[in-house]
Amino acid sequence: MKIISVFNQKGGVGKTTTAINLCAALAKKKKILLIDLDPQGNATSGLGIQKKQLTKSIYHVICQECRLKDVICPTENDNLDVVPSTTDLAAIDVELATEKNREEHLKSELEQIEDYDFIFIDCPPSLGLLSINGLVASQSVLIPIQCEYYALEGVGLMLETIGRIRQSLNPNLEIEGVVLSMYDGRNNLSVEVVEEVKKFFKDAVFTSVIPRNIRLAEAPSFGVSILDYDEKSKGARAYLNLSKEFLRKNK
Ligand SMILES: Nc1ncnc2c1ncn2[C@@H]1O[C@H](COP(=O)(O)OP(=O)(O)O)[C@@H](O)[C@H]1O
Ligand SMILES: [Mg+2]
Repeated sequence: MKIISVFNQKGGVGKTTTAINLCAALAKKKKILLIDLDPQGNATSGLGIQKKQLTKSIYHVICQECRLKDVICPTENDNLDVVPSTTDLAAIDVELATEKNREEHLKSELEQIEDYDFIFIDCPPSLGLLSINGLVASQSVLIPIQCEYYALEGVGLMLETIGRIRQSLNPNLEIEGVVLSMYDGRNNLSVEVVEEVKKFFKDAVFTSVIPRNIRLAEAPSFGVSILDYDEKSKGARAYLNLSKEFLRKNK
């Protein structure tokens, strides 16, 4: 079992889209759990879970009010389960401010889970306690980077955070890889950003690049992954390719 955080403190770079669709693609062959660690709960609703009907979420797990296994929700896909999030989670930094070991709550819960091949954690767009819980619990970090202006802005800070976590609570934390997202081949800027990111991250960049594809933006409003929404779309093919590349790296 391997635990991977999908992390970049910038919002809107494709973390949740990558988490949902890479998990769905991997679920064709493997048993997958996706943990939604973002108070916005986009991974939760994006996989068809009605947030209003939830009585327990990842919030209660991080607050140590219930066990992780008790909040796992099945999805339409037999091999893909979700731990949902709700807006309560936004207050967690304050609520746990004086708590001991507050960076390790998720990690200790995950130590009791063993039924999955891969567990992905969809981190919020911040460097706060939630992301730290995700990174401390993970073996590796998957970093989506949007092919846009300022793509590398904030990357230094992100790597510093990862470095600090390695020095303290999780010495073995690795970089799983960088996923280039929202690529537009007609736009020179996208092409330049790819070059720039490859120069910086070298072999860590996945060869499978995710194109900008409207179908990827539409799928979440139907509560399904791109594979169930439009299997033939460019977006679906890109995430299937990414999943194959991921599995080759994780044999
Ligand atoms: N490859 C893509 N093509 C088109 N739209 C995308 C793509 N990836 C993400 N989006 C859209 O961009 C927005 C931000 O993506 P999201 O995955 O939610 O980012 P993050 O989780 O990093 O905040 C969402 O509206 C999403 O639907
Ligand atoms: Mg997100």
